[in-house]
Amino acid sequence: MINKHLSEQDPEVFSLIEKETDRQNQNAEMIASENFASKAVMEANGSTLTNKYAEGLPAKRYYGGCKFVDVVEDLARDRAKALFGAEWVNVQPHSGAQANAAVYLACMKPGERLLGFDLAHGGHLTHGSPVNFSGILYEAHFYGVEQDTGRLDMNKIRDKARKVKPKMISIGASAYSRDFDYEAFRDIADETGAMLWMDMAHTAGLIAAKEMNDPLPWAHLVTTTTHKTLRGPRGGMILVGKNGENTLGIVAPKSGRTKSWGEILDSAVFPGTQGGPLMHVIAAKAVAFGEALQPGFKTYQKQVKKNAKAMAARFTELGYNIVSGGTDNHLILIDLRNKGINGKQAEAILGTAEITVNKNMVPFDTESPFVTSGIRIGAPAMTTRGMKEPEFEFLATLIDKALSKPADESLHHSVAEEVKALCEGFPLYDQVPA
Ligand SMILES: Cc1ncc(COP(=O)(O)O)c(C=O)c1O
Repeated sequence: MINKHLSEQDPEVFSLIEKETDRQNQNAEMIASENFASKAVMEANGSTLTNKYAEGLPAKRYYGGCKFVDVVEDLARDRAKALFGAEWVNVQPHSGAQANAAVYLACMKPGERLLGFDLAHGGHLTHGSPVNFSGILYEAHFYGVEQDTGRLDMNKIRDKARKVKPKMISIGASAYSRDFDYEAFRDIADETGAMLWMDMAHTAGLIAAKEMNDPLPWAHLVTTTTHKTLRGPRGGMILVGKNGENTLGIVAPKSGRTKSWGEILDSAVFPGTQGGPLMHVIAAKAVAFGEALQPGFKTYQKQVKKNAKAMAARFTELGYNIVSGGTDNHLILIDLRNKGINGKQAEAILGTAEITVNKNMVPFDTESPFVTSGIRIGAPAMTTRGMKEPEFEFLATLIDKALSKPADESLHHSVAEEVKALCEGFPLYDQVPA
């Protein structure tokens, strides 16, 4: 049984995977947090390393038989360090949320105060939302964008931090199209005695390619996912920069021994919040980091930014209201209120038109999170397929065509045909669309 291919062993699952591959191939994938990993990344992800237990760290495992996976994890760590100029990394978090859980465990006791970017203004659930462990276990306070600019005002954040006196300040977002002023955040953290944590899940690829500001010299801790702009397998990672202060030791209460930040964070991942690492995913992370160290990765990230900008400009021409007036990164957030349509309706219409986006709250939204007034659109995936500014401008035109007649289903289906034709010119994984 263990030697059969999936198509023979389980045709049902095989056929669903085939269908999903066709869907990805024929559809304009514009969810800002998604991307297409390379075949090499997927091969490592689907390898025999899934069979291996390796609790612990390279050369310090709780299981035998780790001589090869040790080298794989060291490769992933070394490549991540080289990519981000980090002093220390842990590549074991199973996801972005798991990386963040380890940061909380390492830095905060339950009940302590966090100051994070409001989810309703672009932040993430794990930055203190009441429905997430971070908002349940810790006292969460929030900063947000200004209503007139759609941007953060560092003076207001400083005032808030002075009032809240948080143990930790978090930066990072899921739906903010502008860059962060890390130096100013660090100054606020130093003034108020807070730790500074940046969650670069969305922008890690752009940061690695030096296409966005670098948080590592300023934040005490940095977390990320590996599957968004970074274009690796689904997973997470924690990093500490080379800034001397970041590596200051902390004296462990029991042993009296000075522990480095790295040791504290390693323990927060395992045994703190996880069991055995996913060695197949860590191998795929190593492959993805290797790809990101190639010169082509910078070209790709530059194009991601150009494509998002071109699309934002086209939407503005078409009368759409882009939150903050544009983008500095891979995504745009559109406030649809002037178009008489909500985020939920737009997501459904675009689904029929084979354009995948997600409904999204906009700052100061008047709709519920299930309806929302906006949509979030991202450039990473279609840029991986090779599309450039003309295709992104065309996609904006197609989106407008579909949304301008919300009740005209046959129009939405005809837009789907145009999307399929466009996608055929940029095949995914060298497949011929079904
Ligand atoms: C800023 C940010 N942090 C963390 C996460 C969580 O990542 P994961 O879905 O891998 O748990 C996300 C995912 O969208 C995110 O945008």
